[in-house]
Amino acid sequence: MINITVLNKVGEEKVLEVPEDMGLNLMEILKANEYNVLATCGGMAMCGTCHVQVLEGMDNMASHSDAELDMLDTLPDATPTSRLACQLRVDEHMSGAVFKLMAEEDMEIA
Ligand code: FES
Repeated sequence: MINITVLNKVGEEKVLEVPEDMGLNLMEILKANEYNVLATCGGMAMCGTCHVQVLEGMDNMASHSDAELDMLDTLPDATPTSRLACQLRVDEHMSGAVFKLMAEEDMEIA
C-alpha cells in the first residue's frame, strides 16, 4: 500500500491508503473513495471530468500522452501541473503525491 493525499474542491485534505500493485488508475481510486468524480468517458481521456492538479510528486509520474494533453488543452482551468486522473496509473512512484480535485461535482460533504 502507498499513501497519497487528496484535497477536495473546498480544500479538505485526506490521506488515502491505496494498493499500488493492482493496475488501478487514480480516477478509479478516487471513485472507490467516494469522491464525486463523474468520469463520464470511463477513463478514455475524453471528458475531462477527472481533472486533478498535482501539488506534489509530478516529477515521479509518467508524462502526459497526446490524448491527455489534447483534453487538458480544452479545460479552461488547466495548469501546467494538471493531469487527468484516469491517465495516472497508481504505482509505487505515486507514493507521497498530493492531488487537488479540480472537477469534483458539488455534493454534500459528510
Ligand atoms: S475519466 Fe474522462 S477524461 Fe478521465
